[in-house]
Amino acid sequence: MSDVREAPIGVFDSGVGGLTVVREIMRQIPQERIVYFGDTARVPYGTKSRDTVIRYSRQIVRFLRTRRVKVIVIACNTASAYAMETLQQEIELPVIGVVKPGARVAARETPGGNIGVIGTEATVGSHIYRDYIQSLRPETQVFEKACPLFVSLAEEGWWKDPITEAVARRYLQEMKDRKVDTLILGCTHYPLLRSTVRKVMGEEVNLVNPAYETAVSLRELLREKQIDNQGHNKTGENPYEFFVSDAAERFKAFANSILPFDITSTRQIQIEEF
Ligand code: DGL
Repeated sequence: MSDVREAPIGVFDSGVGGLTVVREIMRQIPQERIVYFGDTARVPYGTKSRDTVIRYSRQIVRFLRTRRVKVIVIACNTASAYAMETLQQEIELPVIGVVKPGARVAARETPGGNIGVIGTEATVGSHIYRDYIQSLRPETQVFEKACPLFVSLAEEGWWKDPITEAVARRYLQEMKDRKVDTLILGCTHYPLLRSTVRKVMGEEVNLVNPAYETAVSLRELLREKQIDNQGHNKTGENPYEFFVSDAAERFKAFANSILPFDITSTRQIQIEEF
């Protein structure tokens, strides 16, 4: 029987965006195996209701469990906002989302207590970042803003484009007016637009990337639970497996534009069957 330490990490997102989290896990804990699921047939989650996102997330977790994962990483901010608590109550595997790691760092590092959060309509409407930050530091001010066009611009590959900059200026003006000192990139796609956001917000504003912070928290969690992989890929299997619910080739092309190496295969599955 193989050791749980060698089991893969299950990561899921509504589509390609969660690859920003995968990229960080690959960088920070390269000895770990990953099974990724991107719900490309049902993306976006950011405009859907809580009930729908919870239903989708449950199906995905059921699928990931068939791959014998040792932990679930909800790489999607929207699914973390809506489904994290439910999943944590329902399954005995450790579940970690992207919201708390990002919020914790923002609460700790804000110099003046003025924090901005940008994300999908669902994430912003849930106020999950605000509530968690204020539970840690009640004196902070948290301003939230949905920036839905950023998702399409990131997927189009227009990461440093003048059009993206114009959109960012329009979305982020309010954050500048409110003089936020820390801005959370609270959607999977936004770290790809980081340099544009940096240019618009200026050098003095801290940009928090929840994808990065999630990988840091994941590493700690694996150690704490003594389920971290201590040798590299001892099973001899491919350490990274990718599954989607639609358009596998399109997913692969995007993955290859952001991951440190080309992925060889992406398999399509019928997620509704789980
Ligand atoms: N992955 C989603 C998130 O981080 C963005 C894309 C979507 O709306 O599904 O919130």
